[in-house]
Amino acid sequence: MKRRIRRSLCFLALLCLLLCSACAPFCVTLPSDTADTGEYLSPEELRGDLVSVGFSQLGSESLWRRANTESVEQALREENGYFLLFHNARQKQENQIKAIRSFISQNVDCIVFSPITEEGWTTVLEEARKAEIPVILLDRSIDRRDEALYTSFVGEDMEQEGRNAGLWLESYTRGRGMEEQELRIAVLRGTRGSSAQRGRSMGFDRILEKHPNWHIVQQADGDFTTAKAKEAMQDILRSGVPFDVLLSQNDDMTFGALEALSEAGIPTGEDGIAVISFDACKQALKLVEQGVINVDIECNPESGELLASVIARIMRGEEVEKAYYMEDRVFTKDNVREVIGNRGY
Ligand code: AHR
Repeated sequence: MKRRIRRSLCFLALLCLLLCSACAPFCVTLPSDTADTGEYLSPEELRGDLVSVGFSQLGSESLWRRANTESVEQALREENGYFLLFHNARQKQENQIKAIRSFISQNVDCIVFSPITEEGWTTVLEEARKAEIPVILLDRSIDRRDEALYTSFVGEDMEQEGRNAGLWLESYTRGRGMEEQELRIAVLRGTRGSSAQRGRSMGFDRILEKHPNWHIVQQADGDFTTAKAKEAMQDILRSGVPFDVLLSQNDDMTFGALEALSEAGIPTGEDGIAVISFDACKQALKLVEQGVINVDIECNPESGELLASVIARIMRGEEVEKAYYMEDRVFTKDNVREVIGNRGY
């Protein structure tokens, strides 16, 4: 382990953070008593010290995000050898930049953050590099030109998720003998400029390009939240432009859109507008089971263990891959029962 602050310093930091908690969005994750899983540092390697990790989560905008935070908090517990400094950026890039600077000044062993958007990280990541603190991107990625400024990425393949949506639509239209029909698609986008939004749009567009009869007739921003998506869908409906397919880039937005559609008396699913959603949270999977949502493209938020194992390797001085991807599945009425009972988020 290359960089280590002593435990006593961590507790000093804890004290300071707790004192500041009334005016700043910091908190420190305290240990829980659940069983260890996955690959963690051995007691010998710990040598009485904990690996301090500063984690700036981008917010708590969705069910997915909350599950992701929980997964990280579970994996980076003190029993596993970690001291987690958790920061919630509340959807603001400037908050994330401030948090990263604060982690640098606290000389943590490792910085983890989920970048709200892809651009704008060069300066702060150069500061982390100068301080020789490894940086891991969690869930979302940054501009490819800045690839040298982080050590590794742990998360989901957003472009593949977008392709999965397009591939499902291909098989859906084929199954209904609609391959040649004009298909009008409305898209509800997540946070503009985020790798989740860009990746999913790009992946879907790759499949759309092969189908000259598929047309995106409406695009609106829902920022990955239910409230904004509901408003966006109401605007789409007011515009009067008809559509056959709704592609909504996360479940929370889908809930908002479904509310607006139902209030307007427009059916979805098997007998109405085909709905494609992303994330596969339990609440949405139930709607897949009921036939209200046609397909849910999984985005797995339980990346905490994988993250912990990558940090452990870095601390041991081992080489790590530039990217580690979670496995994502696709859920329709045909297979949703396999997972719905055990879904924890
Ligand atoms: O980056 C992952 C996306 O962000 C999830 O799809 C969404 O629910 C979250 O807010």
